[in-house]
Parts: sequence; C-alpha cells; structure tokens
Amino acid sequence: DTSGKTITCQAAIAWAANSPLSLEEVHVDPPKAGEVRIKLTSSGICGTDNHVLKGEVEVKFPLIPGHEGAGIVESVGEGVSTVKPGDKVLTIVIPQCRECSSCLHPRGNFCKKQDVLPTSGLMMDGTSRFTCKGKRIYHSFRTSTFTEYTVVPEIGVAKIDDEAPMDKVCVMSCEVPTGYGAAVHSTKVTPGSTCVIYGLGGIGSAVVIGCKASGASRIIGVDINEEKFPRAKALGVTDCINPRKLKMPVQDAVVEMTGFGVDFAFEAVGRPETMVAAWNSCHVSYGVCVIIGLAPTNSYLSLEAPEIITGRIMKGACLGDYKTRDDIPQLVTDYLKNKINIDPLITHQLPFNQIHKAMDLYNAGKVIRCVLLF
Ligand code: APR
Ligand code: ZN
Repeated sequence: DTSGKTITCQAAIAWAANSPLSLEEVHVDPPKAGEVRIKLTSSGICGTDNHVLKGEVEVKFPLIPGHEGAGIVESVGEGVSTVKPGDKVLTIVIPQCRECSSCLHPRGNFCKKQDVLPTSGLMMDGTSRFTCKGKRIYHSFRTSTFTEYTVVPEIGVAKIDDEAPMDKVCVMSCEVPTGYGAAVHSTKVTPGSTCVIYGLGGIGSAVVIGCKASGASRIIGVDINEEKFPRAKALGVTDCINPRKLKMPVQDAVVEMTGFGVDFAFEAVGRPETMVAAWNSCHVSYGVCVIIGLAPTNSYLSLEAPEIITGRIMKGACLGDYKTRDDIPQLVTDYLKNKINIDPLITHQLPFNQIHKAMDLYNAGKVIRCVLLF
C-alpha cells in the first residue's frame, strides 16, 4: 500500500525551454487535502505541450509537462469525495470548482481555479508535489502527465466509465472536447454549412470529425504540412489547401472557393496570423470564427476595426465550452456506445520510456496523436 507515502517513479522533466526532455527518477508526494494521486495509464502529446516546451507560453521550469492524461486513482487526500482509489479518471486542464462565477453561469466553463492563464506551476496551496535530485519541480497546468504518478486537484479530475479503454481514452481529456466539442457544442455547426479548419493536427482533426457529424456540406482543411491531407480527407475534409503553395493570401482563397466566405472558421494552430486568416475567411455578416489554438504569451491580434461592425462573431473556446467534470465523462460514454469514433485520432502509440521517439515523430509532423502508454 503506497497511500500516505512518497512514491519514487519515472518522469520526463523539461529542465529549461528548448532543451530535450530528460527521463529522471522523481519523488511524488502524497496528495494533500482536496488532491488526488493518479497512476497514469496513457497520455497524449498535444500542441499545447509543444508550446510549453518551446517556451512560447509562459511557464516555470523545471517542470513535468503533459496534460492529456488518463489513469487510475492511487490515493486521495483529506476531504476528497468525488473519486476513490481504483477509479478510472482523466486529468483536466480546466477544472470545474462548481463555485466560481464561470462555473455557476450556465454557459461558463473557464473556471477561476484554473492554472493556465496565467500559470503558477504549483498546486492550489502554492507548493509542488514533485522533487528530483533535491530540486522542486513545477507542475504543468496542475496536470503533469509525462510521469508514472501525478498529483492533481480533485476539481480537475473527471471520473469516467469503468469500461473505458485506458490506452486510448486520454484523448478525451483534451483533444476530443477541444476539437470535436468546439464544433458540436461551442459553435453548434449547422447541417449544410461550410467550414474551414486552420491546422489539421490532433485538435483540427477532431474539429473535422465534429463538423462532419454536424452535417457540414463542405469542410476545407488548411495546413502547411501536406502529409496531413490524406488522413484529413479520410475524416471528411472535402478540400485541402497549403497556404505556402498559393499565389494569394489563404483567406482570399477560402472566400473565393465558397463565394462569400464560410459559415464557420476554426483556428487550431495557435498563431495570431492564422487567427486573423480564420476571421477573414468568414462570411462578413453571419460567419463565426472560433479560436481554439493557444497563442504565444504577449501576442496580439491586429484586425481591421471597421470590418467588425458587419456582424461576424469571433469566439474562443476551451475544451469545447463543456462543464468539464460534468460533461467529459458523458463524451467517454458516447464513445463506448459508438456515438463518436475517436480511434482515427490516435495514429501512434509508444511506451512511455520511448518519449524521445514520440517527440521526434511529433516534431517531424508525422502524427495526429501519439499516445504514450505506461
Ligand atoms: N497554417 C496552417 N497550419 C499550420 C501553420 C500555418 N501557418 N503552422 C502550423 N500548422 C499546422 C501544423 O502543420 C500541424 O498540422 O498546425 C497543426 C498543429 O497541430 P498539432 O501540432 O498536432 O497541435 P494540436 O494538438 O492539434 O494543437 C493545435 O490547439 O489547443 C491548441 O495549444 C494548442 O495551439 C495548439 C493548437
Ligand atoms: Zn470554477
């Protein structure tokens, strides 16, 4: 029985921005009040982890990256009532405290107790549960899933169905709610509509599945890596565009292809330029532009101000605007009932100790999602 004891295990540490991950022996403290210690079973590698590792979003180093995790509860701290040891769970970057102004509002999901924007890298009491070689190691968005064991706040843990396949379901923690949810829940893409998706990586591919499921008639996919096109077409993209091969700005090409601009534009890259391109791809009167990529810290958008009056909508969405602890378990159940097929989103699976190979495949643009298995 490990409960109440420090666990020594393997974790991947980023000692600094732009330095390769290093597999180390770490000590994981027991969960404090309101916290849960989880034995990870799988973790995705998401575009946000890449932003973190490249130093594009402001975080504190050294840290244990990773946020898209699935695992089994090992032990719980004092007062924890919603999960118990042995439960299957997901780690969720945007918690649901059920008490703050976001959580209490019917449409709000960006819980005030989140640790993404801005990030402290620490648990809610201002301390860390990880040490390595005597040094304190920061948490990543209060998730940290590139480790055999992690500690997270109870409000960031979603308890899922006992039947869930733990080698795959980690993508339900971020990729699926963020992408699929942006289309079917945040935006409610309408049947017969035209859509464009900037970025055909993991998140963009999940958007495609959502647009297709909503009955969109035309789904345009934009990516600078043409290797992403065959898989995107298999998911339902009708037209693929590589902006680097065009003689005109990509947004002009999208407007030309659709006559007037699309009904729905999604940005799943995380760059101001593609956000502006998505905005300008929309129908000027009724188009909806949905930003789901995380832009670099201290970056700004430059929009033509007079163009805003025409009626277009720009909206951001984290995790599909879902009330995370309430709604994400339902998505898992829908997957188990074959109502959503997430399997094509996972193109690679590797054991956790091959994380370097997984990062190489990600950096080479070869994967939709590579899932690490523990
Ligand atoms: N135009 C179009 N596509 C681009 C561009 C560009 N200028 N630059 C990069 N891309 C493509 C990449 O080739 C890749 O296919 O965007 C895709 C990004 O996909 P992933 O790296 O798999 O990242 P993903 O997990 O999908 O996350 C995308 O969503 O949640 C956010 O923070 C996350 O900002 C990130 C975004
Ligand atoms: Zn809240």
